[in-house]
Amino acid sequence: MPHNPWQQRKIVIVGAGSVGATFAFALAQTGDFEEIVIVDSNQALSEGQVLDLAQGFCFMPTTKMRAGGIEDYADADVIVITAGSKQRPDESRLNLLKRNQKIMCSIADDIKSQDPKGVILVVSNPVDILTKVVLERTGLPANRVFGSGTVLDSARLRYYLADRMKVDIHNVHAYVLGEHGDSEFTAWSIASIGCIDIDQYSLTEPLTQAEKASITENVQRSAYKIIEAKGSTYFAIGMALVKIVSAIIKDKKSLLTVSRLITGQHGIDDVCISLPCIVSKDGAQLMPNIHLSTEEQQQLVESANILKEQYATLQV
Ligand code: 2OP
Repeated sequence: MPHNPWQQRKIVIVGAGSVGATFAFALAQTGDFEEIVIVDSNQALSEGQVLDLAQGFCFMPTTKMRAGGIEDYADADVIVITAGSKQRPDESRLNLLKRNQKIMCSIADDIKSQDPKGVILVVSNPVDILTKVVLERTGLPANRVFGSGTVLDSARLRYYLADRMKVDIHNVHAYVLGEHGDSEFTAWSIASIGCIDIDQYSLTEPLTQAEKASITENVQRSAYKIIEAKGSTYFAIGMALVKIVSAIIKDKKSLLTVSRLITGQHGIDDVCISLPCIVSKDGAQLMPNIHLSTEEQQQLVESANILKEQYATLQV
């Protein structure tokens, strides 16, 4: 259904930390939502972030912004969950599970209590497992609860490839799949520069296996490197979230590697993990007919197994 221009588009950002606030800042520049509400258990923090952002209103498209509460979940078009602990230097995302599980269960219960009508996007880490937690606790349909997954990792991959192949980043089509974490992998078999298979692209030297391995490692180590240098990552994820919520609210049907529940496809089942999806007002739908190489297929199954093992340790 096309957006009714008289209807106010509303987003709730749960978590007023650096990811939530940077996302709010980037989103406010777009004018995609008439109302941005920030919810945090630390009310003073959400009010402080809102005041700091709102005092730039005269430099932005018209937007309303306020600190809110759980009652705001009911009529939000999109709820984005960024709350939770962040990684310490050299700590894996999976290590955050025990710390973030409790808070995610409580946010999911609050959301459920408000009978929400919108789409829920989970960002907090470990994002794949916490997406499954929110999905299970809210009981909402799988297309309406998904995670930011490897959208950021795919952006990082495109950044390194554009530099190496000396081509506009917007013409690099390449995807990181699997866990948003240490077991993620690059799907080289479906990478292309515009309409050309990446291995056939001949305006620069072809990528060697060693270069491919090193690019994948750089992508996978990016968060560790940034956290070591400045404590946390927030700018690129903030922009990635703008892309995802804009695909939802504008019903763009964008191809994005978000993390959603997989039910039997690619030999994996009952796990939230990143594969190419079409993101629209209805949420995330798995893209059909993706053909991975035998090695990539194996990497996907291994990544899914790691996530399933971790999820099995929880009492949800
Ligand atoms: C990132 O990849 C830490 O998950 C966050 O930047």
